[in-house]
Amino acid sequence: METKRLEITMNNGNKLPIIGVGTYLMRDDQELKHVIGEAFKIGYRLIGNQLHVLSLYTAKVYRNETIIGDIMADLGSYGLKREDVFLTTKLSTANQGRGNCKKAILEAMENLQVTYLDMVLIHFPGSSKLSPDNPRNAVNRQGSWEDLEELYNDGLVKNIGVSNYTIRHLEEMFTYAIVKPAVNQIEVHPLYFDSELIDFCKDNSIVVQAYSSLGGADGWPVLSKEELLIDLAEKYKKTTAQLLLRWALQHKLCIIPKTTKVDNLRINYNLFDFVISSEDMKEMDSLSRNQKFCWNSKHVK
Ligand SMILES: NC(=O)c1ccc[n+]([C@@H]2O[C@H](COP(=O)([O-])OP(=O)(O)OC[C@H]3O[C@@H](n4cnc5c(N)ncnc54)[C@H](OP(=O)(O)O)[C@@H]3O)[C@@H](O)[C@H]2O)c1
Repeated sequence: METKRLEITMNNGNKLPIIGVGTYLMRDDQELKHVIGEAFKIGYRLIGNQLHVLSLYTAKVYRNETIIGDIMADLGSYGLKREDVFLTTKLSTANQGRGNCKKAILEAMENLQVTYLDMVLIHFPGSSKLSPDNPRNAVNRQGSWEDLEELYNDGLVKNIGVSNYTIRHLEEMFTYAIVKPAVNQIEVHPLYFDSELIDFCKDNSIVVQAYSSLGGADGWPVLSKEELLIDLAEKYKKTTAQLLLRWALQHKLCIIPKTTKVDNLRINYNLFDFVISSEDMKEMDSLSRNQKFCWNSKHVK
């Protein structure tokens, strides 16, 4: 049996848990506290906080960030210390740009009741209110990165990275970034497997964190009906979700599956007692048909 390797070393020498718990659209106070409490018991140590991203849009979602703040302030009751938990948040497209980014992250830290964040990612290369072909998108994301570099150098954010960046956005970034992005968080599952981008990130020592590994809320109904996946899950005596998550891990991707169900939390962490053969990995890779379920950044200038 393979030894568990629950962390990966990033290009700055810091460790990133390879499995995290995503909290996207989890807004109910009791539900969120219950799910995260159970996740801590199972062994999850990374909370992917999607909330700040949406906090500007609705007061309802804003509540989500403060719920995680309550959890962070009360880690002792879970038997944990601050350094045991890896808390990530993302910079909203609404807060892109020099000065705006720093202000938003400091505000997020206040809501999350923490004195530092483990990781902040620029959520998307574009800015809200700008059309994708507007050249200000590039100016804004450079400004955001400069703010993140300052927060990183001041020790307020331990790791900085990006999300939904294409090779073009990354190459552009390399012309000005003093601190290299540690992570690129992108959509990856067998129906959308951008091996060129994944290889580019690996070649440049950027960890790829896969999101929507199960296809997300819209894609899961599609992926869970793929015959090949159903057959392989049966072959390995695992669920289709476990097969998909194991496939991602074997591609050396980090994962942050989201679930509101404690049973699924357990299932999604139980990935280390089987290995998908290289032939079956190739079969799964061959399902790739450019079918995305989340947003597309390719057109963002
Ligand atoms: N950077 C970005 O632009 C971006 C975009 C999208 C998502 N994300 C991040 O990635 C995280 C995960 O991605 P995602 O939310 O798109 O979804 P996902 O992890 O692909 O899948 C979530 C769906 O699968 C179901 N599910 C989870 N575990 C299951 C299991 N073992 N068996 C059957 N169904 C299962 C969940 O429903 P139940 O709740 O009913 O279990 C949910 O509907 C998010 O929380 C967010 O942090 C980032």
